[in-house]
Amino acid sequence: MKDILCYYVVKPDRGTASAQVTRRPIEELPAGDVLIRVAYSSLNYKDALSATGHPGVTRKFPHVPGIDAAGTIVESAASEWKAGDEVLVTGYDMGQNTWGGYAEYVRVPAGWVVRRPEGLSLRECMILGTAGFTAGMGLDALVERGVSPARGEIVVTGASGGVGCLAVALLAKAGYQVVASTGKTSAHDLLKRLGAARVIGRDEVKDASDKPLLASRWAGAIDTVGGNTLATLVRSAHRDGCITCCGLVGGIDLPLTVYPFILRGVELVGIDSAECPRERRLRVWKKLATEWKPADLEQLAIESSLNQLGPHIQEILAGRNTGRVLVTPNA
Ligand SMILES: NC(=O)c1ccc[n+]([C@@H]2O[C@H](COP(=O)([O-])OP(=O)(O)OC[C@H]3O[C@@H](n4cnc5c(N)ncnc54)[C@H](OP(=O)(O)O)[C@@H]3O)[C@@H](O)[C@H]2O)c1
Repeated sequence: MKDILCYYVVKPDRGTASAQVTRRPIEELPAGDVLIRVAYSSLNYKDALSATGHPGVTRKFPHVPGIDAAGTIVESAASEWKAGDEVLVTGYDMGQNTWGGYAEYVRVPAGWVVRRPEGLSLRECMILGTAGFTAGMGLDALVERGVSPARGEIVVTGASGGVGCLAVALLAKAGYQVVASTGKTSAHDLLKRLGAARVIGRDEVKDASDKPLLASRWAGAIDTVGGNTLATLVRSAHRDGCITCCGLVGGIDLPLTVYPFILRGVELVGIDSAECPRERRLRVWKKLATEWKPADLEQLAIESSLNQLGPHIQEILAGRNTGRVLVTPNA
């Protein structure tokens, strides 16, 4: 078969990583049951780490990043999938140590594949991508723990980023009073258009004191930042509040005492979208395609070919990203 165009990252043993858009023989794709022609991928923070050689995400180089892919099956050795099926893949090991969606084709195990949900185009699936799916898992966790809209405000941190802006949009669609926390004044209008009732600065969800409990402010949170921001949210949650944690852009330490948990019944819920069990995965995608689907996903998307990816990767690493970069490997 032919060579495929891909975003190919090399990293010498003692050197720094570098990337080029090049053609590689299709035989270099990893083993798998299903070969998919990729229509769209997307850029997530994890992709930027992989593309720049971060060993915490990708250990084996040369590598093709891209933790998301949506497209059409061209070959299948699995009875449940056939050529022509429109599908998506997010997470598992794809784009980490298994070549990912920044290529014209991906080959993956059948169990990683999800049928394109009715109600979402392939393009919309990837405007959502791992970011939207992670935001959906956060909302799903709030609903499962009984945090209804009547319980009070839900705060979203890192709100202008991929997970953040989609969390704002999904929560608003589901009827919640959403407060968006952002470091970018330029993002205020977008966040209000997405449904934020209020927009606040990053500093308003940080508290450097060592007080074990703070004034009660939030019924829940979707936090993408971690560190002092996450610790502040836990200490300022309402009684029986639920704080979901998915990210670490602001740090990995979590300075807390047990008091929020034993005096206010606060729950801290971890979100791992990559290994989300299949039943929950399908349930969240179905909700993303129906009752939680934001009205105008297109306003969040900036399209990028493989050749245009480099500057977008630098922007997301610098915390300057707004919205979602939609990658078109076949453009
Ligand atoms: N656990 C999972 O399954 C999962 C899945 C997806 C993503 N994640 C994680 O979630 C986080 C966000 O991912 P993403 O793809 O949405 O990234 P992103 O698009 O880069 O968004 C991150 C946002 O965080 C804010 N930010 C950046 N640096 C910051 C800092 N030093 N302190 C406070 N805020 C800062 C910025 O928003 P503002 O300017 O608006 O504040 C930025 O746009 C990452 O840590 C990623 O690894 C985890």
